[in-house]
Amino acid sequence: MTRRLHVGVSLAPTWLSGDGWRRLDSNIENIYSEELYLDIAKRAEAAKLDFVFRPDTLFLDPQALETGPGFGSLDPTILLAAMVRETSHVGLLTTISTTFNSPYVVARQLQSLNWLSKGRVGWNIVTALDGNENFGLPAMPSAGERYARAAEFTQVVRRLWASYPQDALKQDRESGRYAVSALVQPIDHVGARFSVKGPLNLPAYGTSPIPLIQAGASPTGRDFAACVADAIFASTPDMAAALELRTDLRQRALGHGRRADDIRVLPGLSLFLAPNRAEAHELFAETHARADIGRKIAAIRDMTGLDLSHWPDDRRVSAADMPEVAPALRSRTHADLLLRLIRNEKPTVAELLTRPEVIGSAHWRVIGTVEDAVEQIRQWAGAGAIDGFIILPGGSVEALRLALDDLMPRLVEARLFRDEYRGSTFADHLKDDGDA
Ligand SMILES: Cc1cc2nc3c(=O)[nH]c(=O)nc-3n(C[C@H](O)[C@H](O)[C@H](O)COP(=O)(O)O)c2cc1C
Repeated sequence: MTRRLHVGVSLAPTWLSGDGWRRLDSNIENIYSEELYLDIAKRAEAAKLDFVFRPDTLFLDPQALETGPGFGSLDPTILLAAMVRETSHVGLLTTISTTFNSPYVVARQLQSLNWLSKGRVGWNIVTALDGNENFGLPAMPSAGERYARAAEFTQVVRRLWASYPQDALKQDRESGRYAVSALVQPIDHVGARFSVKGPLNLPAYGTSPIPLIQAGASPTGRDFAACVADAIFASTPDMAAALELRTDLRQRALGHGRRADDIRVLPGLSLFLAPNRAEAHELFAETHARADIGRKIAAIRDMTGLDLSHWPDDRRVSAADMPEVAPALRSRTHADLLLRLIRNEKPTVAELLTRPEVIGSAHWRVIGTVEDAVEQIRQWAGAGAIDGFIILPGGSVEALRLALDDLMPRLVEARLFRDEYRGSTFADHLKDDGDA
């Protein structure tokens, strides 16, 4: 039995990164308006995708703005609220950091969007990598502290959602009873990091829980995801990495008293698509033509402590070159994937600088035709390495269109993806993975 995959598309917008935004059809002038994203959300819905997704950060690197839009963006939850009226089925996955916010406000924002979208909201829980100084914190809390806060934060949010269940609402004109107040209870949470009385001042929409997605795959991150999340947004540059992650997460879910199928692995899939392979490789090369080598070298140094700035291009990098004292890390996920590549392949410096572990957040990458992408997806799905993926279109608007308008119908034909929505909420889509 082949399971249907779960597919989302990132509104990041990855297709405008590198030199993608300089193309005539990039629509870059509308990057801070709703229309650019609405068009994609409508295409995503026409292709029956599970969700559109907006990653997010809460800081800005002004230097990066010299050559591209970087990560600065509209607030993702507000952006997704603008998609509500012109879509009816596609899930709306927003990103909210647990490091810099307060659980009561976040519970309310997400539940508000859930009402407005009739059950289509999802929460990508991130613990963030930077931005502490924008929130009065002199240093970024350690990953351990961020995850501990995330766990308590998420517990509070879920309890707040449950504190005012929808069935408490009666709205009975006849009797004049608006709600059964006995069913609306405080949560009286007093924990190490939060004290929250509750209840939430908004009822829950429906009875399905709001889907939770987590990004971060260190052992602590995996454990957190396996305990609470419906899916993990993963960085898996090759099939072996995805298979290892999925096997481990499923095992951890069982350890938390959940079913293995309760946690889904959805890697980012960077798609540099074109009508033929030569054009796809050209697109990839053009996109990265102005890439700043200094930034890549700095990224490698931050993740491993190794400084390659004076190394010749053809010198191989191996595990033996790693400094004895590893640097303090904000993300183990990315550092571990880079070290794994160096250990397994001993790449030359030149090779290393083109790999997703260095220039693409370690995401799975296909540079080729729609056919090539179908083939790889078929292989990864057949091997049990994934439950779906998140499309990160690369290089051009055309690559984005090929992914949504051409690739997705091919996956339907290959019986790897749904041909129709079978429910209308995000939770319904995640549950819909029966035999295709
Ligand atoms: C695939 C992936 C996507 C992420 N996306 C975001 C994001 O959009 N915003 C953010 O603030 N942090 C993001 N993070 C950072 C994580 O939330 C987390 O803080 C970080 O990875 C450290 O945890 P780790 O040591 O488990 O990797 C992402 C991490 C990964 C691996």
